Amino acid sequence: MLTRRQFVAGAASVGTGAIIGAASARPRYTHKLGAPVEMKAGKTVSVRLTAAERPMALPCFGGRSLPMWTFADGEWPPLIRLNLGDRLEAILENRLPRANESTSIHWHGIRLPNDQDGVPYLVQPPVQPGESFHYSFTPPDAGTFFFHTHCNTVEQLGRGLEGVLIIDGDTTEPYDADMVLLLRDWQADLETGQFNSFYTLRGAARAGTYGPLRSVNGAKNPELPLPASGDCRLRVINTDPTRVMQIGVEGTEAAIIAIDGLAVQPFPLTLWSMGPAMRIDVVMRAPAEGKFARLIDKSPPDRVELAHFVGKGRPRRKTAFDPTPLRAARIPEPNLKTAERLSFLFQASDAGGALSVAYNALGAAVGSLCLSSKVFWTINGQPWPDRDHARLPPPLAVLRRGQSYVFSLKNDSPFMHPIHIHGHTFKLLRSNKQSRPEHHADTLLLLPEEQTEVAFVADNPGDWMFHCHIIEHQESGMMGYFRVA
Ligand code: C2O
Ligand code: CU
Repeated sequence: MLTRRQFVAGAASVGTGAIIGAASARPRYTHKLGAPVEMKAGKTVSVRLTAAERPMALPCFGGRSLPMWTFADGEWPPLIRLNLGDRLEAILENRLPRANESTSIHWHGIRLPNDQDGVPYLVQPPVQPGESFHYSFTPPDAGTFFFHTHCNTVEQLGRGLEGVLIIDGDTTEPYDADMVLLLRDWQADLETGQFNSFYTLRGAARAGTYGPLRSVNGAKNPELPLPASGDCRLRVINTDPTRVMQIGVEGTEAAIIAIDGLAVQPFPLTLWSMGPAMRIDVVMRAPAEGKFARLIDKSPPDRVELAHFVGKGRPRRKTAFDPTPLRAARIPEPNLKTAERLSFLFQASDAGGALSVAYNALGAAVGSLCLSSKVFWTINGQPWPDRDHARLPPPLAVLRRGQSYVFSLKNDSPFMHPIHIHGHTFKLLRSNKQSRPEHHADTLLLLPEEQTEVAFVADNPGDWMFHCHIIEHQESGMMGYFRVA
């Protein structure tokens, strides 16, 4: 039976026609966002991250061990946890088993100094096998973040070089549980115990290559115990190189309380589109003792159960669901009156467009075509010149430090593109295809032919990547950078 609240939410998303709405703008919960905290200097947290091949038998590999590349012994994914104000000292050591397989770490979504951003050639030398690199920074925002390699990303991330970064200090009251749910697929062949190829021409020119093996924290549809009838914080992170999901919860009530790590006024979670690198923090009322709720991906054509939750123990809460919000982040507010406007067009290159059309017409037979270009995507007509970062093109734009900008992002293609900005966070202003509550994001999903406007203050000096987070798109041209000077 639907509660009134679920009914209203459902009706709202049906009524919006062409606009895909995750929720109507009408507030349904009574608690207001908490006031931001003043950051105080904290302790120093030191970690050592050694990139190496570690054969691992994740539960979703069904007893097979695969040659994963990871940052740490033992558990996957590794988790780094700090308090707001703490300084992270991370030593990355490259012990990858292949000559010239350089690596680096990008701290996704963290507004940090440019030389800590982990982009090889642009801001640091690539870390060669046998070498190491010392990262040191104090994250300015609390919330749910992650980190990953920024070198040969399609393979290195494909094999597992990533981890979760949580900055505590954003709660107003404790939740009854706090759980990370890292969603991603594996390009794994369980017959041979090897990975499939991480990059295909068809995938690069179209929607990307989806992995056949789906997982949550390395397990297929795990059963996750939660305190019965508790309000539980779920940190849902899509780190898949390719897959766009439509995340929902069945069997209970849930609300989104943060997007890309940053608090939002809580609103009901009906379905939320999550492209690669996107995060949501959810508060979910856990099922009663012995009862179940489900995390699902409803992207057409399937409904896939990603994980299920079972309530354990005495009931924690009896009042109607009214989720406790987080504390607002301190993001500089762009001045829309004085903002300068810049437009970015995300498009297929001539070769990419032709290849995509050819796959439509010929299917697999395209594999025999001779390709003169490996560049399938462009930003403002400019492709990143090759899959590596060694040859740097000129910046897409030079921004004035301290100036507010409105970026108009237009997807001129029939595929989705999760567009990621380094070193800053966008404030979403409007879109011609999706209606979403006001929020900040470091990665914004552009639907086919969507045009979105975002604003931010260019307050962080340096060269900042700006790219699609479908890694095959990123590595076939849809990548650039802008300079804040
Ligand atoms: Cu998470 Cu440049 O990427
Ligand atoms: Cu893309």
